[in-house]
This record gives sequence, C-alpha cells and structure tokens, in this order.
Amino acid sequence: MSMKKSVRKAVIAGNWKMNKNRKEAKALIDELKPLVADAKCDVVICVPYTNLETALSLTENTNIKVGAENCHWAESGAFTGEISAPMLSEMGVEYVIIGHSERRQYFGETDITVNKRVRAALNAGLKVILCVGELLEQREQGITEEIVSMQTKIDLAGVNAEELKNIIIAYEPVWAIGTGKTATSDQADEVNGYIRSVVAKLYGEAAAEALTIQYGGSMNAKNADELLTKVHVDGGLIGGASLKAPDFAAIVSAASK
Ligand code: 13P
Repeated sequence: MSMKKSVRKAVIAGNWKMNKNRKEAKALIDELKPLVADAKCDVVICVPYTNLETALSLTENTNIKVGAENCHWAESGAFTGEISAPMLSEMGVEYVIIGHSERRQYFGETDITVNKRVRAALNAGLKVILCVGELLEQREQGITEEIVSMQTKIDLAGVNAEELKNIIIAYEPVWAIGTGKTATSDQADEVNGYIRSVVAKLYGEAAAEALTIQYGGSMNAKNADELLTKVHVDGGLIGGASLKAPDFAAIVSAASK
C-alpha cells in the first residue's frame, strides 16, 4: 500500500469519559476555543451526555465538533438509562465513540453489540469513532494482530464502502489507556498500518488509504509530535490530556503541522 498520509485529514478527539460537571465543561470549552481556533486538523470533543447541550451551544460557529461517548443500537424503546443514536443526531451531535475498551471491560460490550451500535449510529447520520485494541496479556501472547483484525471485521460487519467514509478507527492498546504507558510511535504505526491492511482487504486500497486511524492511550502534549509524524497515525483519541485546555490544544497544534 502506498504511503499517502496527505490524503487523510488528521482528527484530534477528546474523550472526556465521566468527567466535568456543567460548570466545569463550560470553563474548559471557553478556554479551549481560542486555543484551537486556527487548527489545521479536525477538533472533536466527546463529552458526557449531560454536557452535550452545553457543548453544542458553546461551540456554535467554532471549529470544535461535538461527540457523545456511546449510543444504544435501537432507535427507541424500553431500554432504561440508554440514549439512542437518533436522539443524538437530532440535537446536533456529529460524532459518537463506540466500542471503547472501558465499555467492553466494565459494561459487557462485545464485538456483536459494538457492531449493532456502529450500524445504528451510521443509520442516524452520526460519524463513528470506533475503538479497537488489545489487552496487555494479548500483546504478550503475540496475538495483537489477530485481536484487532477480529475486532475490525466484526465491528464493521454490514457497513458498506460509502458508510465507511463516516468511520474513524481509534487504535487504543488497553495497556496504554490511563496508565501513562504510551505505545511507542513505532508500535502505534505498526498496528495502525496493520488495521489499514485489514480494511484494504475488506473495502479496497483506496478506501483504506482514505480512512483516518487514530492512536489513543496516554497521548499527551509531550509525545503527540512523535506519534503524529508516523504515516499511519492520523490523529489521536485523548483521554486525560483532553481535560486540560492547554494540553489538548498542544496536541491539536502538533497535528496541525
Ligand atoms: P488516556 O489518554 O487517559 O490514556 O485515555 C485514552 C482513551 O481511552 C481515549 O479514549
């Protein structure tokens, strides 16, 4: 596969996880807006459901896009506590994270339910940030490629080539999330490149080359530069460092070079 990173737009997305009340969200977004106004990459903040309305109104007429952190697979119904994809798109939300390892680890998410949520999100017109990644144990067993290949194939089942244009894949090695143990830029590039080859087999080379594949896992203001120079690392999904405006803005700057 040729190495045309320039065909892809870098996307830096924050994943706030279960952080920030409304007041804190407002303060963070107000601080962030001027710092990322000149970004040459796409900038997304994925926030708790309770902050979506705040985020949408504060980012109106800015370059910051808003995402949710999950959605259910049904359009509506008796699913107490859940939020559907059409509910998100109707309020103006543009992105949704699906299949985050914390959902897989703590909430019984499987590739089957991830796939159902992906398809529901696409049907509702949302852009999906699909998370895949191996556990430490799996890396040590030498099965990282098998794991991310299986996740990618199952999670994208029934997604056609046209719909793939609304998908970003985030490679997040689970051992690097919230641990301060970042993958090396070579490790990230290697797995991202492997995921791209899996997508090429499913959708063809052109579709694979156009796909944005992020890295996530302890990405920060210090290591972003090095990670983002890699040909297959088209952006980042940022947890902890997205909660501080200057740190997140520094990563956005690194992706804007
Ligand atoms: P950290 O950046 O806090 O390691 O989290 C990464 C992540 O899980 C983003 O979705």
